[in-house]
Amino acid sequence: MTQEELFKKLIAHSKEYGFIFPSSEIYDGLSAVYDYGQMGVELKNNIKKYWWDAMTKLHENIVGIDAAIFMHPKTWEASGHVSAFNDPLIDNRDSKKRYRADVLIEDWLAKQDEKIEKEVEKARKRFGESFDEKMFRETNPRVKEHQAKRDLMHDRMAKALNDNDLNELRQIILDCEIACPISGTRNWTEVRQFNLMFETKIGSVAEGANTIYLRPETAQGIFVNFLNVQKTGRMKIPFGIAQIGKAFRNEIVARQFIFRMREFEQMEMQFFVRPGEELNWFKQWKATRMSWHRALGFGDDKYRFHDHDKLAHYANAATDIEFEFPFGFKEVEGIHSRTDFDLSQHQKYSGRKMQYFDPETGESYVPYVIETSIGVDRMVLQVLSAAFTEEKLENGEERVVLRIPAPIAPVKVAVLPLVKKDGLPEIAREIINSLKFDHNVQYDEKDSIGKRYRRQDAIGTPLCVTVDHQTLEDKTVTIRHRDTMEQHRVAIAELPAIVESEVSLRKLFAKLV
Ligand code: GAP
Repeated sequence: MTQEELFKKLIAHSKEYGFIFPSSEIYDGLSAVYDYGQMGVELKNNIKKYWWDAMTKLHENIVGIDAAIFMHPKTWEASGHVSAFNDPLIDNRDSKKRYRADVLIEDWLAKQDEKIEKEVEKARKRFGESFDEKMFRETNPRVKEHQAKRDLMHDRMAKALNDNDLNELRQIILDCEIACPISGTRNWTEVRQFNLMFETKIGSVAEGANTIYLRPETAQGIFVNFLNVQKTGRMKIPFGIAQIGKAFRNEIVARQFIFRMREFEQMEMQFFVRPGEELNWFKQWKATRMSWHRALGFGDDKYRFHDHDKLAHYANAATDIEFEFPFGFKEVEGIHSRTDFDLSQHQKYSGRKMQYFDPETGESYVPYVIETSIGVDRMVLQVLSAAFTEEKLENGEERVVLRIPAPIAPVKVAVLPLVKKDGLPEIAREIINSLKFDHNVQYDEKDSIGKRYRRQDAIGTPLCVTVDHQTLEDKTVTIRHRDTMEQHRVAIAELPAIVESEVSLRKLFAKLV
């Protein structure tokens, strides 16, 4: 199965089992907008709890807030979003399709990398054990040619983006001979900048309506509350403010399911530090955040850092944590050293001092900021992509199983009476009552036990508890583990402790650096 086929199956599975639906589907949906179903919302909430607790409970000096989506319009002038939150877009005149110019070039760069890797793999097979990869890369004429062209185009793109040189971006597309994937032609328009913020009006027209924006990031809600939190919480630098909330961007190239949406959710944390110490903190937060991802157990090689060539207008260092999705390594989280840009801008635009008096140094200053910013929806996609598995069993049957880490699985335990009579359903209900205040549990008595196990595998339930006739005699049940399908008998009285040890978020927290 190709990665593309796998991804299509994953999308179909997400819908079939109540994780993710196209928005307003009865009206044929709305492009790049999705709804979370009964399973999706549980998974999403668990991911948010994993993040929120890792930030606010495991760090004494990080507190949370929940700012409004609507903000004073000056916020976005100060932050630079009104003037600079743009994507460079290019249209193909034949297909009438619109693309992000930098994405077209990045896709081309990725293809060159693939070509190089293919040559290396071919040579590895040819030369066997005596293969010297470094020497091959440095001397093979075809590899050298691909590499040189790739590096040249990469450097030109980085420079063009930094200089905001739209003509050069178009020229690179022409020089790389990039064709529209739909029409196959190279009939491109000029490159234009397009602002991604959604506008709306506040107040009635009679009162004089004002244009406001749906926030394109949650971070500004934290910056404008910096003084409120610092003063009322008596926070001392270094300290952080965390927030989870919706953000909105009018993405033109919306694709890859919930990877790029127009309405999405972010989990952001701004960490305020002394000027001059920011790059040390940047390094520290890179390690902390990578360990949060890796604790999920999908494999360390599934993640990598990608340092930015083009720094955003507010940053002096930036990196992405990328995850290997079925469509390649892509960003799930950004870590940015935002300097004192945002607080200084708000100081300038609001006329309020955004300074901190440091009792240790006796100085007042505008703090520097390290930001960690992760998309909830991209995390959901990360988890689903890594968890989705099709298996052939020893008895020849097939099963689809979501190997979601137990602490974030939507349903933790399914309680299944073997038959719908003989008092077994009543015992199953009692078990549910003993677990339901601590965990999301499901009762299921319909169909054969095998079918019920498959249903739970398909939504990623880590534990199934089966009540049978032996239960009536000795108050024991069978507990089945999703990943190994192993079953063993345990006393009903032991269940709360067993479940807690399997599904508690503590299991993930214990792995964090
Ligand atoms: N405050 C900084 C900021 O917003 P960003 O790199 O633009 O930085 C941070 O976004 C994260 O938000 C990304 O790593 C991604 O996970 C998520 N994100 C951004 N745009 C998104 C979109 N259109 N759909 C889904 N997630 C998105």
